[in-house]
Amino acid sequence: MKRLNSQLQQDGAQLELILLIRTLLAACKEISFRVSQGALAGVLGSTLSENVQGETQKKLDVISNQIIKDTLCESGYVKAMSSEEEEHVVPCDPNGKYLVSFDPLDGSSNTEINSLIGTIFSIFHAPQWMEPDDPSAFIQPGTQMVAAAYVLYGPSTMLALTTGRGTHLYTLDKTHGGFLLTQANIKLPVQTSEFAINAANQRHWSAPMQDYVAGLMAGKDGPRNKDFNMRWVAAMVGDIHRVLCRGGIFMYPADSRERAEHGKLRLLYEANPMAFLIEQAGGKASTGEKRIMEVVPTDIHQRVPVIMGSAEEVAYCLSCFSDDV
Ligand code: AHG
Ligand code: MN
Ligand code: MN
Ligand code: MN
Repeated sequence: MKRLNSQLQQDGAQLELILLIRTLLAACKEISFRVSQGALAGVLGSTLSENVQGETQKKLDVISNQIIKDTLCESGYVKAMSSEEEEHVVPCDPNGKYLVSFDPLDGSSNTEINSLIGTIFSIFHAPQWMEPDDPSAFIQPGTQMVAAAYVLYGPSTMLALTTGRGTHLYTLDKTHGGFLLTQANIKLPVQTSEFAINAANQRHWSAPMQDYVAGLMAGKDGPRNKDFNMRWVAAMVGDIHRVLCRGGIFMYPADSRERAEHGKLRLLYEANPMAFLIEQAGGKASTGEKRIMEVVPTDIHQRVPVIMGSAEEVAYCLSCFSDDV
């Protein structure tokens, strides 16, 4: 089976980018090991602290964040990073060529139930003019991403990675510690009969979103003339992995609750990297108003509504929004 290095070389990735990705994956392998130890290593449960988003941090959020931060800062490839668990930009090496944004542990509520969790990251070029502690360099739209990936800590540890030449899936071979290519150039089916949304928030959604989901729920008896199935892992990394493997539509829309007027998911380290992976697999990723990757950020922790997955289903969903105006 092909190794990560040769696929990255075939895709034309620069040497320094390959080395940075390998460094990040070394950190993810350590997280994978800590996660697999679970209660035996005392890594489960919550801390007493909150992150900048007002979420109580799990011990694994803090541990994973520290592992990635230490590994990246020592590497010399990174000028600055931003993380879900860090209020401010973390300055690294003034000579680093890249910026990294990451969600160290996605789906952290799933740690309590031994269910799917993962790490998500995006990589951008660091502008030469940039001082390492200057957050304005992170104000780049997702179209400028040079790479995006997630590592899924499931029954096997898997990596989905794109450098803009297709989305490839790798599986960690724990016997030698390498990621082996197990599915090259994933292509999402354009149609689907599977959707993912937290339906408990239904009453808070906008009218077009309520109508669209009501149409899915109505199945053969409704406007879509076919039955749909619903899945919700409560970890974006798990839901997007399923969508990449067999198609589907994943949504976390804006809603009327406090802190949710732009949805829940964060642009830099959740929506953007997943949008890049989905688009490179032939899918679509939108906020409902525009392509996620064209959103110009105003803040490193900014949230955006997310609608992504199989191209024709996302297009149908978006048409429900435009009918409204
Ligand atoms: P995180 O654990 O990194 O804070 O992210 C959790 C996110 C995302 O992974 C998932 O899709 C969503 O929260 C689940 O939200 P609900 O709790 O509303 O289901
Ligand atoms: Mn969180
Ligand atoms: Mn997350
Ligand atoms: Mn997280």
